[in-house]
Amino acid sequence: DKGTYPYYMLKEIDEQPNVMRKLASLYTQESGRPNVNQALINTMKQADRIYIVGAGTSYHAGLVGKKLFEKLTHVPTEVHVASEFAYENPLLSDNPFFIFLSQSGETADSREVLVNVNAHDYKSLTITNVENSTLFREATYTMLLHAGPEISVASTKAYTAQIGVEAILAKALGEAKQQVIAEEFDIRQQLGLVATGMQAIIDEKEMIEDLAKKYFVPTSKAFYIGRGIDQTVSLESALKLKEISYVQAEGFASGELKHGTIALIEDGTPVVGIITQKRTANLTRSNLQETMSRGAKTFTIVRNGLAQEGDTIIIPDVDEMITPLLSVVPAQLIAYYTSLNKGLDVDRPRNLAKSVTVE
Ligand code: F6R
Repeated sequence: DKGTYPYYMLKEIDEQPNVMRKLASLYTQESGRPNVNQALINTMKQADRIYIVGAGTSYHAGLVGKKLFEKLTHVPTEVHVASEFAYENPLLSDNPFFIFLSQSGETADSREVLVNVNAHDYKSLTITNVENSTLFREATYTMLLHAGPEISVASTKAYTAQIGVEAILAKALGEAKQQVIAEEFDIRQQLGLVATGMQAIIDEKEMIEDLAKKYFVPTSKAFYIGRGIDQTVSLESALKLKEISYVQAEGFASGELKHGTIALIEDGTPVVGIITQKRTANLTRSNLQETMSRGAKTFTIVRNGLAQEGDTIIIPDVDEMITPLLSVVPAQLIAYYTSLNKGLDVDRPRNLAKSVTVE
């Protein structure tokens, strides 16, 4: 039931702070330590490489997961699009461990990979929102997203819940492998900060709607750019905009634009810079400048404390490893309000199904 909300998508965006609190209470202890199935951690400790498999938004959550696992556990991690992995038989390490990310637990391409993984007796974990779904039943281990039903075709709270669970799991494995100490990256505290931060962004809805009207309603193409973890969020931000507002959007590594794609920038093309990492903030700023001098209309989604100028959405400060949990929220709202103000059916975009059960 969407209650007083015009569309499920807005309700599901609004639910994200509570999902973060729920993950903190279910998967961490009062002390801040992760609370994750010990057998799962023991199995993962044996792995020499982690393979994350997903489609669409779940694949994008996997890209963030790679950063978390590599940073906190030092286990090399690959992320694969399910439909590609299924038929390309990528070379595997001696002791692989598979993580399946799927909101629905029913995506056919991901299932195809899992059938193969099981045929080889490799161990796996499914992170899903749907208990007893196919991917839930067929994996060795499972962790639930506890996000509540996601009805809108455009995935929002499942993406942030997937990243939340990956962060908890990476911290747990990192501690078990003695790559990170308990006192570092207090995941319980961080998820609390994220919840508060998400709420602060959501409270700025009206300002974000104004930006959507100014930049995105009048356009047929747009760019999100960033570096590192911000680049992965640029992909998800562009996907959200494409699927419900039909603006042709690209997410891009900001330093790569000038190697060809910048030719697409015209007078008035909107370009959004996502800037949450101190180390690369100035680089992305100068890449934005490059698009401005070719006529782009730019604005930024910036982590508090990093310099701002022009139209800006400020996101509250959290650990640099989990900024996607906050930087994606303005992009979700931009997509929502662009679709809404174009008079489209936000929850049921054309040509799309909520769960893709054919290969
Ligand atoms: C985008 C979206 C899709 C799904 C993808 C995978 O908003 O919803 O890209 O993320 O079809 O679905 P699941 O996670 O159910 O496997």
